[in-house]
Amino acid sequence: MDRVRGKGYNHSVDMYSEAKPRILFARQEIEATVSRLAAKISKDYQGKNPLLIGILKGSFMFMADLIRLLNLPLEVEFIKLSSYGQGRESAGKIKMVQGLRTPVRGRDVLIIEDIVDTGLTIAFLLDYLQKKQPASLKLCALTDKPSRRQVPVAIDYLGFTVPDKFLVGYGLDWNEKFRNLPDVCYLEDE
Ligand code: IMP
Repeated sequence: MDRVRGKGYNHSVDMYSEAKPRILFARQEIEATVSRLAAKISKDYQGKNPLLIGILKGSFMFMADLIRLLNLPLEVEFIKLSSYGQGRESAGKIKMVQGLRTPVRGRDVLIIEDIVDTGLTIAFLLDYLQKKQPASLKLCALTDKPSRRQVPVAIDYLGFTVPDKFLVGYGLDWNEKFRNLPDVCYLEDE
């Protein structure tokens, strides 16, 4: 959420304070989707020892569910990014708030993201990691909101394509709230 403000949404702090989350994808559907992604990833990374990099905070629940289904000798890392700049529209500047502690060179890296929105965060991260010369670099995103894209992003493993609504739950927040909801929901102004 801290990366959403100033990116076209420009939600005020209490814009959704009365909003009730409505279910977009129920937990059973999420479970089936995560299983589908895990099966494909397990197959594609057979014989490899991938490094999964989750982007905090939104990806933590997706990461936890996904890796339990991966039959691979994998490693897990987390990084934290934030966007900065002023004004209504995106400043497009991303900085790393918490970086990597595991070397990436020569590793099969799989980024785990909750949502690709404008694409600016992922574009920054892909560029940052590519410079570190991984053996391979792929992206797994739970959701994709293509209607708001500002830079092209190729998603190798995608859960759901979503409409231009503000999503919460299953790790996603509005103003640090709703991360604990077990379903992917959307917020609507009352
Ligand atoms: P991007 O750089 O615009 O692609 O931003 C991606 C990040 O913005 C995600 O990792 C989320 O933290 C946040 N974000 C974008 N859309 C939503 C949303 O609908 N709900 C909650 N967070 C969002």
